[in-house]
Amino acid sequence: EKGGYDHFMLKEIHEQPTAIKDTYRGRMLPDEGLIRMAGVDDNLERIANAKRILIVACGTSWHAGLVAEYIFEELARIPVEVEYASEFRYRNPIISEKDVIIAISQSGETADTMAAIKLAKEKGAFAFGVCNVVGSSISRETNAGAYTHAGPEIGVASTKAFTTQITVLTLMALKLAKHNGTISNTDFRTYLQELELVPGKIEKALEADEHIKYISDIYKDARNCLYLGRGFNFPVALEGALKLKEISYIHAEGYPAAEMKHGPIALIDEEMPVVVIATKKGHYEKVVSNIQEIKSRKGKIIAIVTEGDTEVRELADHVIEVPETIEPLTPLVTTIPLQLLSYHIAVMLGKNVDQPRNLAKSVTVE
Ligand code: M6R
Repeated sequence: EKGGYDHFMLKEIHEQPTAIKDTYRGRMLPDEGLIRMAGVDDNLERIANAKRILIVACGTSWHAGLVAEYIFEELARIPVEVEYASEFRYRNPIISEKDVIIAISQSGETADTMAAIKLAKEKGAFAFGVCNVVGSSISRETNAGAYTHAGPEIGVASTKAFTTQITVLTLMALKLAKHNGTISNTDFRTYLQELELVPGKIEKALEADEHIKYISDIYKDARNCLYLGRGFNFPVALEGALKLKEISYIHAEGYPAAEMKHGPIALIDEEMPVVVIATKKGHYEKVVSNIQEIKSRKGKIIAIVTEGDTEVRELADHVIEVPETIEPLTPLVTTIPLQLLSYHIAVMLGKNVDQPRNLAKSVTVE
């Protein structure tokens, strides 16, 4: 049932090209320049006229929400707030009938996310669900929704759920942008064309597996690890750190690269591996100077770079290449090497990758 893979997590990492295709298939019609999503189409005015979009989620799904925040604001120009469901529900949040709340949940059973949705609905907000499990509690509680078609995710560490959540939310943002006239027809088409190329690009990113294994072997005994990214890739840094913590039990932190000098830089010495997402565009030069700062403090740099990059290659201890795509879609490819890195480290340390200690696949208690 693991399809020839040693673990479900590895199988699910490799399923991402297909999972993403399954998620956009039938919804994205590049030739017609159209996106069809029943849950959005049926409520288009309500959603597109939202004064604010609130995203609530936990864990990896919250990270997908952060990526979505950047994408929604960039494309649809609707203000977005992303909250941990557990915090949102306990702080008497300001919600109005003009708000749309999006709950992101792989399982559709996360107790805090469910409670957040109920609370927002009571206050008159329109609730939209992005779930993977069909018929799950959150998918039933929301007014409308769009499923991720990732297929069953068994590994406790979420992988394909994350990338398919980003896919659904990107389609939704594009759809709203088109409706609101905040995107040109040319850009809209470019997005669709680029999204269609993402599965192939992930295949390509997966080819770095052996090289990532080699890097994993060097750093598997690290006690700490820092992940840095900017813009669309800041949430990817958080997600990379979460993956490492969850399955290898190595302490890891994700930060926006520019925040490093406001504190975490004090941690950097020759013992500290720093994973930096340094793909082209997206503040590339700024990230390069962040890398220089790490280097001058003797930190070990593992950089995720765009194919053919030379500038970062000269500075970093290791580079892992990913194919180029348009900036808002980079999280879909940059996240792949980070999943593999945590996977290989955990395997090398002999940890239970699919069922890490103390964790459950869905957290149905508060
Ligand atoms: O099922 P959900 O998406 O609501 O789950 C949310 C989190 O519990 C989940 O993403 C958790 O953080 C994963 N173990 C991350 O890999």
